[in-house]
Amino acid sequence: MSEENNNLVPLKVLLVDNDPDHAEAMAESLERIGYECKIATSGPEGAKLVDEYSWNIVVTDLVMNDVDGMEILRHANEKQTNCEVIMVTGHASVPKAVEAMQQGAFTFLEKPITPKRLQAVSSKAADSVRLRSQNLALHSRLDEKFGYENLIYASESMKNVITRLKRIAPTDAGVLITGETGTGKDVVAQAIHQNSPRKKKPFVAINTAAVAEHLVESELFGHVKGAFTDAISDRIGKFEYANGGTLFLDEVGDMPMATQIKLLRVLEERKITRVGDNKEIDVNVRVLAATNQDLEAQVAAGKFRADLYYRLKIVSVHLDPLAERREDIIPLADRFRKMANQKHHKKTRNFSPELRRWMFNYTWTGNVRQLKNVVESLVVLDIDSELDMDDLSPDLLGTGAAPVNSSPGDSSHSVLIGQSLEEIEKWAYENTLNLTGGNREETARILGVSERTLYRKINQFGFN
Ligand SMILES: Nc1ncnc2c1ncn2[C@@H]1O[C@H](COP(=O)(O)OP(=O)(O)O)[C@@H](O)[C@H]1O
Ligand SMILES: [Mg+2]
Repeated sequence: MSEENNNLVPLKVLLVDNDPDHAEAMAESLERIGYECKIATSGPEGAKLVDEYSWNIVVTDLVMNDVDGMEILRHANEKQTNCEVIMVTGHASVPKAVEAMQQGAFTFLEKPITPKRLQAVSSKAADSVRLRSQNLALHSRLDEKFGYENLIYASESMKNVITRLKRIAPTDAGVLITGETGTGKDVVAQAIHQNSPRKKKPFVAINTAAVAEHLVESELFGHVKGAFTDAISDRIGKFEYANGGTLFLDEVGDMPMATQIKLLRVLEERKITRVGDNKEIDVNVRVLAATNQDLEAQVAAGKFRADLYYRLKIVSVHLDPLAERREDIIPLADRFRKMANQKHHKKTRNFSPELRRWMFNYTWTGNVRQLKNVVESLVVLDIDSELDMDDLSPDLLGTGAAPVNSSPGDSSHSVLIGQSLEEIEKWAYENTLNLTGGNREETARILGVSERTLYRKINQFGFN
C-alpha cells in the first residue's frame, strides 16, 4: 500500500445516534473490521465533533432532535476535506435521505441495520475516501512541481523577472506580459496562475489572433441563441469558463477595436453580457494578457485603444530576447535535451563543446521556442548518444551563427574595459563554466588552467 493510504489507516469513523445502545452496536461491528470509532449520542455533540476533528466516515441518524442528520451533513461539507457521510433512516424518512444524497451524502441505510450491511457500505465509503486521498496527494505533488521550477534561467534579466513574478503572482492584479515570440510568455502566464490563490480554479487561454474577428466577442463573452446566424444555441464564453480563475488573453494586440472597449468595461465593472443578450453576469476573473507587439506604437497608430493599454500595463513583465540573455541558453538546452530524451526514448548524454559554443553564440531569432525545436531535432536524429555539430541541420549553419571559434559573450567584451583584472578573471571563469554547463574538466581545458586552479577559483569567487 502506498504512503498516502497508510496515513489513513485506521480510518476514523464518527457515529451519531440518539440511542446509545444502537450507536455502541454499530461501533463494535466497525471496530471488528479495523476502523477507529467514536460515538456521539446527540446531534449537537456530533456537530461539535465534526467541526473540531477530522473524520473519514460519519454515520449519522437522519432524524434527531435539536440538530438532525442534514445539519451534521452541512457541518461535514463545510469542515471536512475527505469524509463520506452515511445517513441512517427509518422507513418513513427515505425521501429526506434522497435529499441528503443530493446534498452530498454518500448513501443511506434503512433501519434495521445489520452489522454486515453496515460493514459493506462503510467499506465502499472507505474506498472512495482512499481514492480521493490519493488524488489529493497527487495534486499537491503536481503543485510543488509547477512552482517556478518549470522556468529555467541563469541570467540576471530572468532573475529579475522571477523576483517580480513572486511579488505579482499572489495578488489579483492583471498583468501584461510582453516579449518577442518564443520568449516564454505562455509559461510565465501559467506560472503566475499556479502561484496564485486561484491555482485550483481554471486557467483558460484564448489566442485573439487565432479567432476570426467577428467571433472574438462570442468566444470571450458567449452568446445567446439567435444572436447571429450561426448561433444555433446558447453558448458560454471564456470569461464564464474562467470564473474564479485566470483568463489569459494571448496576442491581445490583435484584438478588434470594437472588442477592446468591451474588454475595458469588463475589467472595470467585472460584469459581462453575452452577445445578443442584455442580462449582466458577474464574473470574478483575473486577466493576464500577452503580446509580442509594441502596443505603444499600436496606440500611436490608432490600432489599440490608449485607455485599454494603460489599464493593462499597470503591472507588466517583459521578457528579453534570448540573444540578450545568453546565460540562459545552455541551461535551457540541457533541460530540453532531457525532455526530448524522455519523449523520444533516447539516451543522449551531452552536447559536444563545439556545439555548446555554437548554441551560445547563435542568434536565436525564434528565441526559446526555436532553441527547444533545434535541441529536439538533434536528439531525434542522434545515433551515437553524443550530440555534435554534424547533427545540426545545415540551414542553421548559414544564418545567425557567430564563428564557432569565438568566445562566449563576444558582444559584451567591451563591458570588461575599465574593470580590474580580478573582475575580468571572474567574468571569464563564470562564463566558461556557464558555457560548459558546469563541466569542470572542460572549463579548465578551455581556460588553460589545471582543475585544481579552477577549483580554487570557484571557491574564491563563491560560485556554487
Ligand atoms: N524560461 C523557460 N524555461 C523553460 N522553458 C521555457 C522557458 N521559456 C520558454 N520555454 C519553452 O519554450 C517554448 C516557447 O515558450 P512560450 O511560453 O510558448 O513562448 P511565447 O508565448 O512567448 O511565444 C515553450 O515550449 C516553453 O515551454
Ligand atoms: Mg505564446
